[in-house]
Amino acid sequence: MATNAAQLAEANVQLESIERASIDELRSLQLQRLQWSIRHAYNNVAFYRTKFDQAGVHPDHIQSLDDLKKLPFTQKSDLRDNYPFAMFAIPRQQVLRIHASSGTTGKPTVVGYSRGDIDDWASVVARSIRAAGGRPGDMLHNAYGYGLFTGGMGAHYGAEKLGCTVVPMSGGQTPKQVQLINDFKPRIITVTPSYCLNLIDEFEAQGFDPRACSLEIGIFGAEPWTNQMREEIEYRLDIDAVDIYGLSEVMGPGVAQECVDRKDGPTIWEDYFYPEVIDPQTGEVLPDGESGELVFTSLTKEAMPIIRYRTRDLTRLLAGTSRPMRRMEKITGRSDDMMIVRGVNVFPSQIEEHILAVDGLSPHYQIELHKKGNLDSIKINCEVASDEYDRDKVGQHVAKRIKDMIGISAEIDVTDVGGVPRSEGKAQRIVDLRYV
Ligand code: DLL
Repeated sequence: MATNAAQLAEANVQLESIERASIDELRSLQLQRLQWSIRHAYNNVAFYRTKFDQAGVHPDHIQSLDDLKKLPFTQKSDLRDNYPFAMFAIPRQQVLRIHASSGTTGKPTVVGYSRGDIDDWASVVARSIRAAGGRPGDMLHNAYGYGLFTGGMGAHYGAEKLGCTVVPMSGGQTPKQVQLINDFKPRIITVTPSYCLNLIDEFEAQGFDPRACSLEIGIFGAEPWTNQMREEIEYRLDIDAVDIYGLSEVMGPGVAQECVDRKDGPTIWEDYFYPEVIDPQTGEVLPDGESGELVFTSLTKEAMPIIRYRTRDLTRLLAGTSRPMRRMEKITGRSDDMMIVRGVNVFPSQIEEHILAVDGLSPHYQIELHKKGNLDSIKINCEVASDEYDRDKVGQHVAKRIKDMIGISAEIDVTDVGGVPRSEGKAQRIVDLRYV
């Protein structure tokens, strides 16, 4: 769907002043906020004070943005070790909200927000929805899960702040989602891309043409998704599909948002979150344009400042286009999701590209990791788009593509329609059966 020029002109009028600032103005604001954030963390969180002291760095030593690299990194395990509230920098009584990420093992990672943090979070999400093309008065169907996960409430408060009518649907109850979209006629949907595919299938199962529904904009995130997936969703739903990025430890959704006028990767809201990309092996800060692990430092967070948090997300920083802030390239994957098959490094997103490129395959897939002797092997479970297709033929086709383009031999299991488990939130792309 083409975004119309009048809408874009209107978007420019409504930008916040920092979205129109010069790079110098942005850097100066960042330095001022960074110095505050580091001092706040040092003065109020024992974990940071000990780590900074051990590294021989004091907040007074941070005189430029470049000085940030003198500080040690923070990792997910640090948050676990300080479970539940020892990372908080304000008294618990002033923490207005808690979220937590489930994690696959052990204790959840807990995050807390002050009143000011909740307000800032709503502001960045409101800005994100506006950058996606949303406007006050729009109706927004929010299918991110509500609860400890930050997606539902994060999108909700931001949409309200922008002045949207929010439908707080959460994930699940798929037939009802379709009914409410048909009846309420929202313009915007916020949902994981994998669950959106599930909704599109449900429209078709109920006999509706998804392209004819009221939706014009989809704001998709919480999991990696490829540009091929974007094309698939844009075509099947006749919408503009844009990428929203975020993580609980840093805030939640709205750390970065792709602008609808270019769709060239999420713009990082650098006035709130300072990004670095590092070499994951050495920890060395890489110049913009080079790929590595994304690291964030919060610039305004009161309840739980986070300094140099290693996200495990792999990307690179790119110059700003629609805004002065830098962009991040669409995430290729998390370092934790990297599979090594006979010495070849593979991410689920690479497999996704090829599944989506094969005519006759549906976009639903899951990857199983197996151990054969000492070697890891992978099996890809996918399914035909409709019963008209020959399962063996499409299976051979995708196996050949993956062999030719990625260089690995994967066992392919093509099932009938509906054979791959559907997501209602974040899709589980990898099922690790190596040690069961
Ligand atoms: O997923 C926050 C969120 C909710 C973002 C809704 C966007 C929309 P966590 O559950 O803490 O927070 O998971 C964070 O999800 O480190 C990435 O690995 C992944 N992720 C989030 N957004 C994207 C995206 C939320 N747009 C982790 N593209 C992050 C790729 C993403 N991966």
